[in-house]
This record gives sequence, structure tokens and C-alpha cells, in this order.
Amino acid sequence: MSSGNGKRKPIGLAVVGCGLIGRTRAELACDYPGVEWIGLCDINETTGRKLAEDIGADYFTTDYAELLKRSEVNAAIVATVENEHVGPIRAAIEQKHDLFIEKPLATNAIESANILKDIESEGLDAVVGYTQRFRRKFLVSKQKIRSGALGDVTSATTRAFMNRLAPILTVSKTEHRSKLTPMVVSGTHSLDLSLWFLEGKTPVEIYARSGDKALGPSCGIKDATLGIFTFDDGSIWSMSINWALPVVWPAAIYTLEIGVVGTEGVLTIDDTHRDLVLATETPQPTIQSPEVKRNVSFLTSYPPGDVAFGQLWGPMREETNAWYGRIHTGMETPHATAAEGHRNLVLTMAMDLSAKRGEAVRLPVDPEELED
Ligand SMILES: NC(=O)c1ccc[n+]([C@@H]2O[C@H](COP(=O)([O-])OP(=O)(O)OC[C@H]3O[C@@H](n4cnc5c(N)ncnc54)[C@H](O)[C@@H]3O)[C@@H](O)[C@H]2O)c1
Repeated sequence: MSSGNGKRKPIGLAVVGCGLIGRTRAELACDYPGVEWIGLCDINETTGRKLAEDIGADYFTTDYAELLKRSEVNAAIVATVENEHVGPIRAAIEQKHDLFIEKPLATNAIESANILKDIESEGLDAVVGYTQRFRRKFLVSKQKIRSGALGDVTSATTRAFMNRLAPILTVSKTEHRSKLTPMVVSGTHSLDLSLWFLEGKTPVEIYARSGDKALGPSCGIKDATLGIFTFDDGSIWSMSINWALPVVWPAAIYTLEIGVVGTEGVLTIDDTHRDLVLATETPQPTIQSPEVKRNVSFLTSYPPGDVAFGQLWGPMREETNAWYGRIHTGMETPHATAAEGHRNLVLTMAMDLSAKRGEAVRLPVDPEELED
């Protein structure tokens, strides 16, 4: 990885969406020396103005188009809710800004394909927030697999278990729930990691099944999707997620286990967070929802990182600062590209399509077929 090209590009940053994630990235921008101007936008004026005041932002508006057109801006973070990414992305593309987009690129596969086309035809640098790539354990795993330590990878397994608190909060923000499936919203993170490890292999088929007994009746969403991908070289990968684990499950969000087997080696990754267990007589508030409390918690299981001494420590800090470095100094970074973000959306939707049809889906699949 290079540390840059010696040039320094001053960053004029627009953050669209000042909720949990927009706030985190904007706070980090304040401390990054290359960020010289920060403008914020949120349709919720109270939320946006509060963040602007807390970080001393240079500008605030409720209209993203107005912010993204300002002459000070040359880079934008799109951190709106999942269904509201497309408008600000389009406005930022029009202005040819460097882009950091929270996943998913879009919740509609056709829109996602069109956005990718526009980003590529404008030659823009756009990355997608697959934060887990910035964990030390995953970076070193990637490095080992890339260096050939496992020989030729023949199979892989990925199992994500998630506390149902996260999906319940996600769907509470919108009535448009049909696209908010476990794979599209959350499984996409472990799918991205796994495909990053399996770089160079092209998936040619997916067979998947879903169930919705726990969250279907109360929230109108699925509980789980389990699938098997086949690649062009005959290798196979099982990808499964269940995001309906009970609220008392000690993980803040998820626990993950990955196994990658090659002709000459195997790599097993335990990301279950069972190495740091807190059990207390007085229930402790959860990170996402202080009124929900638990007696037992797997500490450090909150994916963006943890707050200590008033600051966030963990992968979202590394990821955000690395992106500022990517713009400011031109350093190479392992961020997911917009093309990878689009691929991830299409594959997660293809799993949902296969489960819906009850049959295997050949890949690549047309965005039109996914939206049909
Ligand atoms: N990388 C990660 O680890 C990670 C973790 C959690 C969430 N996310 C993603 O980050 C994004 C934001 O999630 P969050 O938890 O911060 O949500 P949030 O609800 O806390 O914040 C979203 C904000 O966007 C604002 N908003 C909605 N539509 C808007 C519009 N048209 N213009 C301007 N503002 C608008 C809302 O008012 C809200 O304040 C989502 O895409 C989510 O999937 C990523």
C-alpha cells in the first residue's frame, strides 16, 4: 500500500445525512488536517443543526443539491438512510466530487447499475462503506490469501448471526421494507469480505432459501437467508445470515465465522467476540438503543468500533481517515469500489430472488430481472 504521491489536495467536504454514521465521519473530518471546509445537510433540521454546532461546521442546509453545488465542496459523504442514497449520489456525480457512499449504492438494482455507469463514465473516484475491511484481522487474512498461503481456494463458508435489534431499528425508519432484506442490508458486509478473500473468482450460480417466522409477522421482513454460490472454476461458497436472534443475544450487532479452504491450507476466522464478555447484575444500556438493556454483552462487537475517552476507536475511524488520506495525499486504500458495491447489491438481491423462486439463479443476472 502506498502512502501517497507527495501532493496534497485540500478537502472541501459535504456530509449528506447527519445521523449516527454521518456524525461519526464528520467528527473525524474535524480532526483530519487535510479537511479545510465542512458543510452538512440533513432533512431533519434539528439533527443537522445539532451536529453543525457540535463540530463547528462551516455550513448547514436541508437541501443536498444546494450543498453539493457549493464551490468549496470537492468531496462528499452520502450517509442518508438506505432508501435515500440515489438523489445525493446523482447530485455529487453531476459536480464530479470524490465520493464515499454508505452501502448499499442503491436499493434498486437498475438504479445501482446506472449510478455505476455514470461514476465510471465520469472517471470519478467513488468508494462504498464496507467498514469491516479495515479490521486488522481481516486485512491480514486478505494479505495471506492474496499471497497464495492457501494454494488455490476450493471452498469457503460464512455464517453471520445478528441480534434482531438492528433490523427492527432499520425497518422502523421506513414503510418501504420489501428491499430491506437480511442480505441486502446486513449480509452484504460479510458477503463483501468473503468475496474480497475470493478475489478473481466469478460466481456463476446461486441457490438460496429464506425464512420469516420470527420477524415476518411483527415487522414484515425475513429472518434468515442461506445460500450456496458456485464459481466459474468449480469452487463453492456457503453464505448464510440470520438477523433474528433474540434481543438478549449478547452481541451488539453480529457474530461472524468464516472458513476458507484451499488446496494447500485453511484459514479460519473467529469473529464471534466471545473473547470479551461482560456480565453484570445491573443491566447495561445497548449502543443502538439505550432503553434496551442487557445483563451479558460481548464487548467490542459493535461493528463501527467503540467509544472510549470521548472518541470512536475501531474500523470506522480507520476507514474514514483512510478515505480522507486517499483524497488528500493520494494514498492507496483497500476501500470497496463502486463496482464492488454494485456487485454486492446484485449478488445479495440474487440470493433473495433464488429464495423467492425456490430455484437456482444463473449469474450474472440482469438488474431488470432482479427488479421484475
Ligand atoms: N459502515 C457501517 O458499518 C454502517 C453502520 C451502520 C449504518 N451504515 C449505513 O449508513 C447509512 C446511514 O445510517 P445511520 O445509522 O446513520 O442512519 P440514521 O437514521 O441515524 O441517519 C440517517 C440520516 O439521514 C437523514 N436523511 C434521510 N433522507 C435524507 C435526505 N434526502 N437528505 C438529507 N438527509 C436525509 C435522516 O434525517 C437521518 O438523520 C445507511 O446507509 C446505513 O446502512 C453503515
